Amino acid sequence: MTLHRKIINPEILKHSYIQTLKNFHQKSVTLPPTKNFMESIKVHDKTFVPYLEDAEIQEIVKATALKIHEDYKNEVPVFIGVLNGVIMFFSDLLKHYPGECEIAFIQMSSYAGTESTGIVYQKMELTKDVKDRHIILVEDIVDTGNTVESLFKYFNETQRPKSVKIASFLLKLEVYKKDFKLDYIGKEIPNKFVLGYGLDYDELGRNLPNLYQLEEGQINH
Ligand code: IMP
Ligand code: MG
Repeated sequence: MTLHRKIINPEILKHSYIQTLKNFHQKSVTLPPTKNFMESIKVHDKTFVPYLEDAEIQEIVKATALKIHEDYKNEVPVFIGVLNGVIMFFSDLLKHYPGECEIAFIQMSSYAGTESTGIVYQKMELTKDVKDRHIILVEDIVDTGNTVESLFKYFNETQRPKSVKIASFLLKLEVYKKDFKLDYIGKEIPNKFVLGYGLDYDELGRNLPNLYQLEEGQINH
């Protein structure tokens, strides 16, 4: 029996590898349709108008990250992202944070449509042991303050961290009813429902890179 061994010329191999790479780079990729920030958008039954553009958002997030770092220069804090709305703010905040830090997540929910139900549910367990750690709870937006209040209670009563602070990208100051301190706020906004940059309206709109506001004349709920 004769054994046929296929001998591959290394030059041919190299050539075909380069060709594959070239083909890969030439392939066109379909990106999700980009939204022109000047245009209003419709999500479910409501219209939203442009409010904060990505560049402005990044300025706010960077300033917030640097402010937090001022207080934690000699520490390794644990940033705890409150899912789902915080995803974009959380990742940008981390990118702008110049020091060492760790991360964890927890999931809370209080909203139905564009209205706060007033009842806060914990939907997901905390992903890390934070006993004796300095923690910073990171929220997308503080509205009535019910969520941060429940979080405070949960962490202080069950997790025994060394310290707890709160950072939120946005605050609806007119609606905020609690009197405990919000340590780091990116921007105070009027009491209008906002969408995009992680924030949703009935689960849609989280992937918009810019922030939109419910159009004037539309009911907030
Ligand atoms: P709070 O418990 O009333 O302070 O509400 C906080 C949570 O409600 C936030 O973490 C958001 O997930 C959600 N939320 C509040 N206001 C808005 C909004 O304008 N757009 C989208 N979600 C919001
Ligand atoms: Mg949230």
